[in-house]
Amino acid sequence: MPRALLLENIDPVAVELLSSAGFEVESLHGALDEADLIAALDGVDVLGIRSKTQVTAEVLARRPALSAVGAFCIGTNQIDLTAAAEAGVAVFNAPYSNTRSVVELAIAEIISLARRLTDRDRALHAGIWDKSATGSHEIRGRTLGIVGYGNIGSQLSVLAEALGMRVVFYDLEDKLALGNAQRCDSLDELLERAEAVTLHVDGRGGNAGLFGAEQFAKMRRRSLFLNLSRGFVVDHEALRDHILSGHIAGAAVDVFPDEPKKQGDEFGSVLRGLPNVILTPHVGGSTQEAQYDIGRFVAGKLVDYSRTGTTTLSVNMPAVALHGSSVSRFALLHRNVPGVLARVDALVGEHGLNVDGQMLSTRGPFGYVVTDVNGALPAELLAQLRALPETVRLVTSHHRP
Ligand SMILES: NC(=O)c1ccc[n+]([C@@H]2O[C@H](COP(=O)([O-])OP(=O)(O)OC[C@H]3O[C@@H](n4cnc5c(N)ncnc54)[C@H](O)[C@@H]3O)[C@@H](O)[C@H]2O)c1
Repeated sequence: MPRALLLENIDPVAVELLSSAGFEVESLHGALDEADLIAALDGVDVLGIRSKTQVTAEVLARRPALSAVGAFCIGTNQIDLTAAAEAGVAVFNAPYSNTRSVVELAIAEIISLARRLTDRDRALHAGIWDKSATGSHEIRGRTLGIVGYGNIGSQLSVLAEALGMRVVFYDLEDKLALGNAQRCDSLDELLERAEAVTLHVDGRGGNAGLFGAEQFAKMRRRSLFLNLSRGFVVDHEALRDHILSGHIAGAAVDVFPDEPKKQGDEFGSVLRGLPNVILTPHVGGSTQEAQYDIGRFVAGKLVDYSRTGTTTLSVNMPAVALHGSSVSRFALLHRNVPGVLARVDALVGEHGLNVDGQMLSTRGPFGYVVTDVNGALPAELLAQLRALPETVRLVTSHHRP
């Protein structure tokens, strides 16, 4: 029976899915350090982690039987992806599972800022009854400017329109405008048109300092600003200046250039204590629904990979999904050099087998080929495939697709 080890309190849906796919699953609450992880991985085929467990080159070298790692989160920096690919270990994550949560928080914050909710809440908790309509607005009919029209930005576009907002967006790529949203040709055009600007760009290096004094100055007077994307994208000193001058009427910030490493660490920021500024500790995607979806999504990828060799959406393997059924299937991760496929097929033919289906994909230095054949796989053929100088890993344990 294949074994799966899940660390860091992964949602129980992952245990359910892996168990019903035939894995013996152990799920632990915390993370493990390198030495404990190496010990715990003895006999384990599949590892599930979140952000705290480091999967180093050392761990991978010491546990060659490990075949896949599921990062039950978005980021994969905690895994040495190159070493994992070199070791033939496929890595999967959940890039989309929490996008709806981010969108809902953005919507909540746009309304909260327009109504100055957090200021009113703070005042009343302090015993101050300040009933007034001054500075409070509906969002209906207001123009929302979305910078970065990807998974999150485009979903936000749909929900904001459903609430009666007008939407304009700016993206580096030529994205399809959803609903009545209008594309802007430049960031400056968006800043001229929008009454609330929200950032949903990705973390590419070129986005460092994307939004600074110049961009805040170009925003319409008394407009709102949100950043739920990446901390390094915004100059917080410039944001503070524009809040204090009154040019920006309110801001919501969920991500910071230097975020505390662990729970309870002090949070330092020039944005602390400013009026009508909502600060949240990078919780845009942190909901129980997102955790459930991450568990479901990543466990599904691990099950698919172990059953059929499918590497779709793996972060370090060439993407291959071979559909159809046959008698036997094998998956070969190999060095990406000319002639491997021809040699594989010649070996298969020499054993009197016919290729029923085959798919090859490459990614940088690696190629990955999944092959279905019309008979049982002879031990000699497997030994020959393993002995090819280009072979990184041969997997034959897949169930029949
Ligand atoms: N706050 C949270 O908890 C949380 C949770 C999930 C995602 N995020 C972050 O949200 C951001 C968006 O996520 P996503 O899944 O929508 O990403 P995505 O990759 O689907 O979309 C990003 C979009 O931004 C565009 N873009 C990049 N740089 C740009 C620029 N300088 N100007 C205009 N457009 C630009 C890209 O072309 C792309 O369309 C990411 O940075 C992600 O890390 C935050």
